Amino acid sequence: MESITNARRSVNSNVDFLPLEGTDYIELYVGNAKQAAHYYRTAFGYQPLAYSGPETGDKNKVSYVLRQQKITLMLTTALHEKNTIADHVYRHGDGIKVIALRVDDATKSWTETTSRGGKSSIPPTEFSDKDGKVIISGIHTYGEVEHLFIERKNYDGVFLPGFRKWETPDFKNEETGLLHVDHCVGNVNWNQMNPWVKFYEDVMGFRNILSFDDKDISTEYSALMSKVMSNGNGYVKFPINEPAEGKKKSQVEEYLEFYNGEGVQHVALASNNIIHTVSELQKRGVEFLRVPAVYYEELLDRVGEIDESLEPLKELGILVDRDDEGYLLQIFTKPVQDRPTMFFEIIQRKGAKSFGKGNFKALFEAIEREQELRGNL
Ligand code: FE2
Repeated sequence: MESITNARRSVNSNVDFLPLEGTDYIELYVGNAKQAAHYYRTAFGYQPLAYSGPETGDKNKVSYVLRQQKITLMLTTALHEKNTIADHVYRHGDGIKVIALRVDDATKSWTETTSRGGKSSIPPTEFSDKDGKVIISGIHTYGEVEHLFIERKNYDGVFLPGFRKWETPDFKNEETGLLHVDHCVGNVNWNQMNPWVKFYEDVMGFRNILSFDDKDISTEYSALMSKVMSNGNGYVKFPINEPAEGKKKSQVEEYLEFYNGEGVQHVALASNNIIHTVSELQKRGVEFLRVPAVYYEELLDRVGEIDESLEPLKELGILVDRDDEGYLLQIFTKPVQDRPTMFFEIIQRKGAKSFGKGNFKALFEAIEREQELRGNL
């Protein structure tokens, strides 16, 4: 059982100088945006929102925007070679390029973060159309990932200037109960966790709310270390992982090798009814990591009484963990592209603010079984 009060908390006297209203959207660069958009619609229940491409005046790329409740995904692909998107896909496969954050003032967000050492990716720039104006600025973070600051309080359009409503044949594609982004996890290189923790503290005004060392997160074979960074209101949480020495190759090392560097490892999506959500996702063909049946024999002894009955949790492979404040239910998909890189977590919090430390061992053993099948352990 994890104890938040006992976890190491760093004392950071920084004021929360960068107010964030939450995650605005997540952009993936992919090899085939049209087909990826279909997968996220049919498998995860995202609804079509917006489109940009040659028909809207962009000759170099195509973007599809999908939405489910407060989660917005943008899928972007290059139309030609010798293009930064095509190069990104060549190096990394499909992966997350942008974690965009909603702010009240994108100019101030950029001025403050760049004056504290953040490297600019785009200075404050105004984009407008008949529906109003949006100001976007951005900075680089680990790997090739960018944080964009989106100020959209003076915009009424479907998504952003340059996009039109995505007109697509209607088919039965109900939502699956996914609500919002709970956290986004980054995998960074050996000895790079602390420098990136410092970046989120110094540049973004985040605090380190939890730390896990290799003793917390190790199995017989592989290990990793992790620190969870959170902004002031707790709406934006970025755990940062680095590999640790084990007998065999850490799952973070496998990621770094196949992604060709640092990047986003997983995005956790919140549900208010994980049993319903995961039943739907499994019906639609989403593949999840499974733990052995023995996990459920010991579960209630470990976490105590829970509202859910054990049977559907066991059948679906949903994991449970408890901390001082409550419990959480969670499950992890297998990687959603051919490279063993990015995946999703589905999480339902019932009071718990932690990340499922009690499940790490069972989970990482499940990941190692998959690594072994790929010949990468
Ligand atoms: Fe997670």
